[in-house]
Amino acid sequence: MSIDFHDQKNKKTYADRNANIAWSKDIESLLPEGKHFKCAADIGCGGGIYSKALVDAGVEKVVGVDFSKAMLEGARENCKDYETITFQQGTAYETGLQDEQFDLVLARALIHHLDDLDTCFREANRILQSKGYYIVQDRTPEDILLEGSEEHVRGYFFEKFVKLKTTEINRRHRKEKIRKALEANHFDIVQEVAFWEIRAEYLSKKRLLNDLQHRIGRSILYELDDTELDELIAYIDEKLPEDQAITEKDRWTIWIAIKQ
Ligand SMILES: C[S@@+](CC[C@H](N)C(=O)[O-])C[C@H]1O[C@@H](n2cnc3c(N)ncnc32)[C@H](O)[C@@H]1O
Repeated sequence: MSIDFHDQKNKKTYADRNANIAWSKDIESLLPEGKHFKCAADIGCGGGIYSKALVDAGVEKVVGVDFSKAMLEGARENCKDYETITFQQGTAYETGLQDEQFDLVLARALIHHLDDLDTCFREANRILQSKGYYIVQDRTPEDILLEGSEEHVRGYFFEKFVKLKTTEINRRHRKEKIRKALEANHFDIVQEVAFWEIRAEYLSKKRLLNDLQHRIGRSILYELDDTELDELIAYIDEKLPEDQAITEKDRWTIWIAIKQ
C-alpha cells in the first residue's frame, strides 16, 4: 500500500506542523546575502507548510501548486491567515502557471514521487524568470541510509524493515542524476549541500510514537500494514530513552540552481 495523496483522509498529513525557523535561516545562508524574492511557486506544496515558511522568511507572494485537491483543501485551511499565499491545482509536469512569472521555485520533498525529472525541471525553468532561483530539497540514497539515533529516528525504519529500505532506495534519485537533469534543463547549480532539518520537537517520546502511529507526513510508513507499523513503533520505543523531549532531525540534500 502506498500513500494516496488524493484521499480526503490524508488532507492534513502535510499540514499539521510548522517548518522549524532554522529551515529558512539555513536556506538563507545558502543564498547571496540580502537576496529578496517577490514571487515564489511552491510545487508539490502539500499542506502549505513551506509556503508559509517562505512568506515568514520575507517572500512577498507565494503560489502553491499540488496535483491533489485534498492536499490543497488542507493547505488553504492551514494558510488561511496568510493573504499573500494562493493555491491552484496542477502537476509538477504541467503547473498551469504562466511563463517567467516567478523569481523562486521550490520543490521540497516532491521529486522522489516523480519518474520524469526532465519534464519537472523543464517546467520549473519555464515558469522562472531569467536568473531565477530553483531550490530542490530531497533525500538521496546516502541521506536515508544513515543509522537510527535519538535524533535521526527515521534511520530506525530501515533497520527494522529491509523492505522499507528497498522501497526507499528505489524511489530516491541519485545526486548525479539530479545534477545531470538540472543541467540538461538549463540550470546552473550553485550549491549542492547535505542538510539536517529539524522535523519536529516532541515534548515526550509518547508524542513522537503517536505521530508515527498516524503515519503523519511520512509516506514511507504507508508501505507497512498496521501490524508491521505496531512492530516498528515497539522497536523505536525500545531504542529511545524513557520519557524525555525529542528533537527529530531528517537528513536531506539541497540543490540551489539558477536559470541560465
Ligand atoms: C511529501 S509531500 C511534500 C509536501 C510539501 N512540499 C512539504 O515539504 O511539506 C509531496 C507532495 O507532492 C504532491 N505531488 C506528488 N506528485 C505530484 C505531481 N506529479 N504533481 C504535483 N504534485 C505532486 C503530493 O500531493 C504531496 O502533497
